[in-house]
Amino acid sequence: MKIIGFESSCDETAVAIAEIDESGRILPLASCVNSQIPLHRLYGGVVPEIAGRAHIENISPLTEEAFKQAGLTPADIDAVAVTANPGLIGALLVGVNFAKAFAFAQNVPLVAVDHMKAHIAAAYVHKDSTKAPKPPFIALAVSGGHTSLYLVSSYTDYKEIGATRDDAIGEAFDKVGRLLGLSYPAGAEFDKLAKEGFALACGKEDATFADYKKSAHFRVQDLRFPSPALSDGSLDFSFSGLKTAAVNLMHRFDQKGEQIERERFAAAYTYEAVEAVATHVKAALQAYEGYPLVVAGGVAANSHLRKRLGEVTAFLKRDLFIPPLSLCGDNALMVCAQGYHELEAGNLAGTDLNASASDSIM
Ligand code: KG4
Ligand code: ZN
Repeated sequence: MKIIGFESSCDETAVAIAEIDESGRILPLASCVNSQIPLHRLYGGVVPEIAGRAHIENISPLTEEAFKQAGLTPADIDAVAVTANPGLIGALLVGVNFAKAFAFAQNVPLVAVDHMKAHIAAAYVHKDSTKAPKPPFIALAVSGGHTSLYLVSSYTDYKEIGATRDDAIGEAFDKVGRLLGLSYPAGAEFDKLAKEGFALACGKEDATFADYKKSAHFRVQDLRFPSPALSDGSLDFSFSGLKTAAVNLMHRFDQKGEQIERERFAAAYTYEAVEAVATHVKAALQAYEGYPLVVAGGVAANSHLRKRLGEVTAFLKRDLFIPPLSLCGDNALMVCAQGYHELEAGNLAGTDLNASASDSIM
């Protein structure tokens, strides 16, 4: 079976075609992503109106490119999957409308996909089915808009067991990165800067968080941040306090006329952000004996988070699945993957399908 997937929830237009073979393996035939980052960079963040307009310009040529890449025509497609929520409404509507028209014209089934479920489904795209996670598992979705922990009991049944109560981890990196003079989105550059900071603090490359915690830099109080892990017994997070602490710290340095050491700042900030996530992931895994961990979303590309979650899962003797970097950010193969499972579960969308900005997982 061949599925075409469309993604337009934020600032990437993406179209992909996947083949699902008889054993249920999800194999990529084409994956095209058009990033609008250069359009939004000027404003330091995504401008919804610009995003919607760029999606409408890009979606047809990108679809043609996907067919060329796969060596197929629309008549070869058996089903259509589209991200219908959550996201920017004007952006989502472009993909949903295009997908509806495609399904109508080809007379094939249409399935609506939740963007966060799709991020997690990126882990199912694998040639070797033993390397793709199978529910039940715990999933961590970390992106520009989300920091959520899910109990995934089947390919389509998700229960949110922890979430951010305010800013997402990606937003926390992007906004503070901007204050450090990094361009939007700051996540990847922040990652590199923090790496230099950890190396400086520990006097060696590839220092672990345990090394950093023992370092003199960690004990110096001038660059310490509050933990975003809430300690109220829940698995929730609050990243707004971390962000505010960073802004206040910068002001304090400014007032004293001192230059902030960007690398040390980035390392101290990353330490708290990542450690908070690791603490709650560990608690979630301990509550669900034997469950593996799946990590997904743009921030799953963060090298410090990947390494720390590797340590946590190794300590608890659990399997860890993280999609390749190319599938961590927004793409449409992940939409094909979740779309296939929605189709298998009989969750077909009607002709009245609408997009929804809403955060609640479908
Ligand atoms: O999943 P995604 O592509 O889009 C959303 O659905 O939000 O995630 C984008 C986010 C941005 O905040 C970006 O800064 C962050 O992922 N990101 C990273 C890294 N690479 C991308 N954050 C931290 N470290 C990285 N290496
Ligand atoms: Zn995303």
